[in-house]
Amino acid sequence: MLKKLKKQKKSKLVAFTLTSSLLLSGLTYDIASAQSQNPTSVQQAQTSTEQTSTPYLTDAASIDRVIQAMTLEEKSKFVVGVGMPGFGRPAFEDVVGAVGGTYGIPRLGIPELRFADGPAGLRIRPTRTGQTQTYYATAFPIATSLASTWDTATVEAIGKAQGNEVKEYGVDMLLAPALNIHRNPLNGRNFEYYSEDPLISGKMAAAMVNGVQSNGVGATIKHFAANNQETNRNSIDTIVSERALREIYLKGFEIAVKESNPWSVMSSYNKLNGTYTSQSADLLTTVLRKDWGYKGFVMTDWFGGDNPVEQMKAQNDMIMPGAANQSTLIKTAVESGSLDEKVLDRNIKNILNILIQTPEFKKYQNTDKPDLAAHAQTARKAAAEGMVLLKNDKMPLPISKDQKITLFGNTQIETVKGGTGSGDVNAAYTTSIADGLKDAGYQLNQSQFQAYKTYIDDLRSQDQYKIKPSPWGEDFGKSIPAIPEKPLTDDEIAGASQATDIGIIVIGRNSGEGADRKDVKGDYQLSDAEKDMISNVSAEYHKKGKKVAVILNVGGPIEVDSWRDDVDSILLAWQPGQEAGYAVADVISGKVNPSGKLPTTFPVKYSDVASANSFPGTPANNPTQVVYNEDIYVGYRYNTTFNVKPAYEFGYGLSYTDFDISHVNISEGKKFKDTLKVSAMVENTGKLPGREVVQVYVSAPDGKLEKPAVELKAFDKTKELKPNQRQLLQFELNAKDLASFDEVQNAWVLEKGTYTVKVGASSEDIKGTATFKVDHDIIVEKVNEALAPKVDFERLTK
Ligand code: BGC
Repeated sequence: MLKKLKKQKKSKLVAFTLTSSLLLSGLTYDIASAQSQNPTSVQQAQTSTEQTSTPYLTDAASIDRVIQAMTLEEKSKFVVGVGMPGFGRPAFEDVVGAVGGTYGIPRLGIPELRFADGPAGLRIRPTRTGQTQTYYATAFPIATSLASTWDTATVEAIGKAQGNEVKEYGVDMLLAPALNIHRNPLNGRNFEYYSEDPLISGKMAAAMVNGVQSNGVGATIKHFAANNQETNRNSIDTIVSERALREIYLKGFEIAVKESNPWSVMSSYNKLNGTYTSQSADLLTTVLRKDWGYKGFVMTDWFGGDNPVEQMKAQNDMIMPGAANQSTLIKTAVESGSLDEKVLDRNIKNILNILIQTPEFKKYQNTDKPDLAAHAQTARKAAAEGMVLLKNDKMPLPISKDQKITLFGNTQIETVKGGTGSGDVNAAYTTSIADGLKDAGYQLNQSQFQAYKTYIDDLRSQDQYKIKPSPWGEDFGKSIPAIPEKPLTDDEIAGASQATDIGIIVIGRNSGEGADRKDVKGDYQLSDAEKDMISNVSAEYHKKGKKVAVILNVGGPIEVDSWRDDVDSILLAWQPGQEAGYAVADVISGKVNPSGKLPTTFPVKYSDVASANSFPGTPANNPTQVVYNEDIYVGYRYNTTFNVKPAYEFGYGLSYTDFDISHVNISEGKKFKDTLKVSAMVENTGKLPGREVVQVYVSAPDGKLEKPAVELKAFDKTKELKPNQRQLLQFELNAKDLASFDEVQNAWVLEKGTYTVKVGASSEDIKGTATFKVDHDIIVEKVNEALAPKVDFERLTK
């Protein structure tokens, strides 16, 4: 029985206005009004004397009776959310900034739930009118940075901390993690996603879900599926083969579902082979539940899809954020016989099975006081672990504290913690790179710092560069217009290179929800001012026998090939969250030895990307369809198979020490039985303690199905190894891990032939190999036929 009513429920509605920014973002939806709230309080129901006669939600065993007792009106309202604050309804007063809520039915003991965004941290409003208490959340490193750790324990720790904030701020379910594949580096939301590789994506997502859910709150894996661009995201039809779906775009979700049992899955905005994903029974029933055995519930993305009745049939259990007309359509469909009420009952059961596990149902009294100081430390540690050392010729890094530094680049001050949109986080602060280095005890060139500060302050006071609340409302963080890089005079550079021992240039980029990036100067390419800065600063420092390092404060790859030879070191810091400056200083100083590896390829030029010609779809001026012609050859699968040399390959990353990987072994000998045990020895052969990531790739033989040159099948990271210390890493692979998807048989198959296991430090830096044989074709797992494309299209083959 529910005892305390903590949340204040309001039924007041405000008129819905579709803002131009929302239209711009592609979020268009015919929503007349948000659904009205049930005004009855849970407390009233508790004191009701009818409890004995009216079924009441107490546990799993009570669910069927509760559903039977629901009126059709209640059912049709329960499967539709109660609207989105700022877009048709006032804020949720109990958790201001929560982006979704469910409909409560107090008479049956069903409370309302609150959903709020991630993935880089909980996104809620940090301040509330008339209160001194604040509600800041920790901005953790972006997902791509977390994936660069190649360390699931680190990611699980982030999930644990993030989930604690979810719980203590009174939210039931986090709308994260997100794990769409980096199909193309220009996707504006790639920063929210882990990798171009499904194994990394799935393992990271599972670790995150396990961490979040260890708090007794829910995680939502999103956006299911093949949502790999922002351009026309609400209408684009993704055309992709069944094989590429199963092996690339669904695989990470399959891993996450099986290894972490997320409470919810969010369907995506796009159509998939002709059908909105939220309306696709193939995707949400056949694949997700029948093939994978998923036990949670599915919600739409916000305003996603166009047919609530089809969504119900597909087993998209809940429509978010929800509008009254959607409930009406569902109710009318049941009344007219076009929707079986049993379908509604099934969906409601899916939701209630989860609802009974929520803090709200369990009457958890949240404190609104998570331990932000402790979580900041967790964020800092992960941010440093995720940094990737791309270049360090003759070891300019780490930098000792007695060396004087000049920082160049606007982003030393305006350091980017993460991307924008729903994945933004309202953190209490972001430590800039300049402040982080100062705090670590470095002497920075003060006059240069001051020149940057004055330049930035001046531009920010001008109208076009003013920092404003996000066009989607203050809950979505700030809109920070990009400002041009400060030009540098020859005298400035000469003076700085005279006065200081090393130059550090910071290059920053941001992107976010609602728009894709572009292959233009100032975005994927460097601006002219940035190019000048790099070449001029490098020339002057080098003239004096001094070094130059670049720090990349970016959310995804940028062009590096044209300028990387100019500089001595490049540290890819990603967008490292609120502790950015401290974490950068940890790596720059050598307090942390970098051990991050690229989870996504840095191409030489954009046109080297397999999907460069098809992204973001056709017709070019306003795409309605995007065809995944590159098929399974995404990221390094393309580079390695078609010999396209990247600037920095998948899996690449340097350290301040050296490692040797040897003794690559398969324990079972040369014939494959059910599983395969692979082992490799790692030794720290350098002078500093450090960690190494070991990557296990497999080259499978071409049979009826052609195979990429290499595919990542397992990975692990050593503990911190002291110089000369060794660690044996062991990996277990089963038949499914090694199998490919055969569309004709609807099955995962292991084709006969010789397989080569390649163990290395990157997709190109293979240190040892071993082979094994499969004698005859093996059908590893049969699945249901689903999601076949309805149009013919060309697929890349070898
Ligand atoms: C995003 C989701 C997010 C939702 C709620 C949508 O625009 O695509 O990732 O969870 O909004 O903010």
